[in-house]
Amino acid sequence: MNTAKLVLNDREHELPVMVGSEGETAIDVTRLRSESMIITLDPGFANTGACRSEITFIDGERGILRYRGYSIEELARAAQFTEVCYLLLYGALPNREQLDDFRERLTYHTLIHEDMKKFFEGYPRSAHPMAILSSMVSALSTYYPVANAEEDPDLNIIRLLAKAKTIAAFAYKKSIGHPFSYPINALSYTANFLHMMFSVTTEPYKVPQVLDDALNLLLVVHADHEQNCSTSTVRLVGSSDANLFSAVAAGICALWGPLHGGANQNVIEMLKMIRSDGGDYRKYVAMAKDSESGFRLMGFGHRVYKNFDPRAKLLKEAADRVLRELNIDDPLLEVAKNLEEVALQDDFFLERKLYPNVDFYSGILYRAMGIPTNMFTVMFALGRLPGWLAHWKEMRQDPDRRIGRPRQLYVGEPQRSFVALADR
Ligand code: ACO
Repeated sequence: MNTAKLVLNDREHELPVMVGSEGETAIDVTRLRSESMIITLDPGFANTGACRSEITFIDGERGILRYRGYSIEELARAAQFTEVCYLLLYGALPNREQLDDFRERLTYHTLIHEDMKKFFEGYPRSAHPMAILSSMVSALSTYYPVANAEEDPDLNIIRLLAKAKTIAAFAYKKSIGHPFSYPINALSYTANFLHMMFSVTTEPYKVPQVLDDALNLLLVVHADHEQNCSTSTVRLVGSSDANLFSAVAAGICALWGPLHGGANQNVIEMLKMIRSDGGDYRKYVAMAKDSESGFRLMGFGHRVYKNFDPRAKLLKEAADRVLRELNIDDPLLEVAKNLEEVALQDDFFLERKLYPNVDFYSGILYRAMGIPTNMFTVMFALGRLPGWLAHWKEMRQDPDRRIGRPRQLYVGEPQRSFVALADR
């Protein structure tokens, strides 16, 4: 076995070196503290592997993303979202029988308990749908406390995958004051969601194929992204043996932040602002470069991708295609492209390797579907759900699993004596 040597205060520590299946190298510091009282410090975990995982591979320098070995480009071109869910969860593509069975189970569990509809009545009309989604997912644990592991160990995983889109669509209906549209079992996963979002009682929504395909693509490209902020949250919460619904609800909350999945809502708001301000891209690029301004180009930059985000490329092409086929003239697409062009000619962005990320073009597609801006991050959550579930499952099955519990470097006051109030 290869080892690395760490020399500190003339003492040598030998650390095992591990190599992943794509040649990635990791120094294993698991026993460093117990043997030496030394810890490693890595704010934001930018250089820390939290686990070994077989699910997703990313090479940020070369713009590579693969789920279970399959490239995102191939999956985006040919795979159905339900196939990708199965692939992420079980490690292999399903055969016809396995896929039919999986889809049937997803369809069977689509309804939410009628009592849960009452919860929606309690939220204000203005409630952000991410808040509704996270609390409703957490509430599912009150209806399904434990799945019967012997009978069907993945039952709660299936329930959550099936019900999340119903909750998401009901949250939207609530926000516009419409009655809920119940799922129709004959429809595909994507068409069923669009039906629940847009059907009104007098007029069932006919899902245009181009939008069904675009939604499938969006869900596929969001399906997993290894140890990102929300997935790490799901793993961390799940590591305490908290139930599946609680772990995923925590992941939804982590995703909501504007530095993570919340960026897709902020991108559209930013593009609208630039347009209504006369479309002066250079002004906003200059603002983003000025650290004092507090403004960042939303949808730009990524912790891992330092070349390009392959998902952004796929979504940019799809946005062009969908708008063309539906004859939609969305001025924000033009604004986005111009902004990208200006930014990518600027040394500030080139030096820091800041490129459009998945959130930059996704909003243009959601707008073409008629999905309102405050639902964008919910759409991201629906896409990321199988990834969270696959990681939760992998974490639970890991024989080396331990509760997630980082260390810290204490930089506060050394011990001092308490001073009574009268003497202060
Ligand atoms: N606009 C302007 N400058 C940026 C941007 C941006 N969008 N992103 C990074 N920078 C600059 C930083 O100011 C910093 O510059 P400095 O070295 O001069 O201080 C440098 O680039 C590195 O930035 P960090 O914040 O250290 O990079 P980190 O890897 O921690 O953060 C993140 C990555 C959060 C995605 C960041 O690029 C960002 O805030 N982007 C905008 C929000 C966004 O689009 N988030 C979605 C990410 S994709 C996803 O989660 C699905």
